Amino acid sequence: MITDTAPNKLEPQADFATRFETVDQVINALSEMGSITMIEAGMVELDHALQCAAELKLIRPDDLELQVAGLVHDICHGRCHIRDHGEAGSEAVRDVFGTRVAELVRLHIDAKRYLVEVDKAYRSKLSAVSIETLALQGGGMTPGQIAAFEASPYAEDACQLRMADEAAKVAGREVPGLETWIETLKSVARMAQ
Ligand SMILES: [Fe+2]
Repeated sequence: MITDTAPNKLEPQADFATRFETVDQVINALSEMGSITMIEAGMVELDHALQCAAELKLIRPDDLELQVAGLVHDICHGRCHIRDHGEAGSEAVRDVFGTRVAELVRLHIDAKRYLVEVDKAYRSKLSAVSIETLALQGGGMTPGQIAAFEASPYAEDACQLRMADEAAKVAGREVPGLETWIETLKSVARMAQ
């Protein structure tokens, strides 16, 4: 059960809108996630971001954009309503990392709504918190929404990101720190310019 001990997660917040202009601003925002507690016990938001990026690096070592999308996918989590954090995060990182990273961030919510309908094994992997937030995010997709999602050129990668997202909630799991991602962040930002 989610309680108000996690006030930043589920209640509507003041509107949050930002657009990062530099990689340094993104790195600062990621650093700040080191002091934002996750609803899942024993983790902060930065742990989750780093675990997600590490997962994607293992699975898709050559896809730096996908790895960066994994690192920043929740950059607006805790800064706005949970329902809106994909959209807000997408717009926040678009100018720095480009369309593909932004779309993957945006679609990580839809990918969850898609996967719970088409992949029964995925549903069983959802954390209790993720199941609870699913309803706030619109629940499973309708057949029409599934068709529209599958038509997106980013759908497959968004699902990959989403699977990594679910796997990135392991308290105490050691993964490389934020400093190891700085060159990758800069490189993806350069490619986007
Ligand atoms: Fe996440």
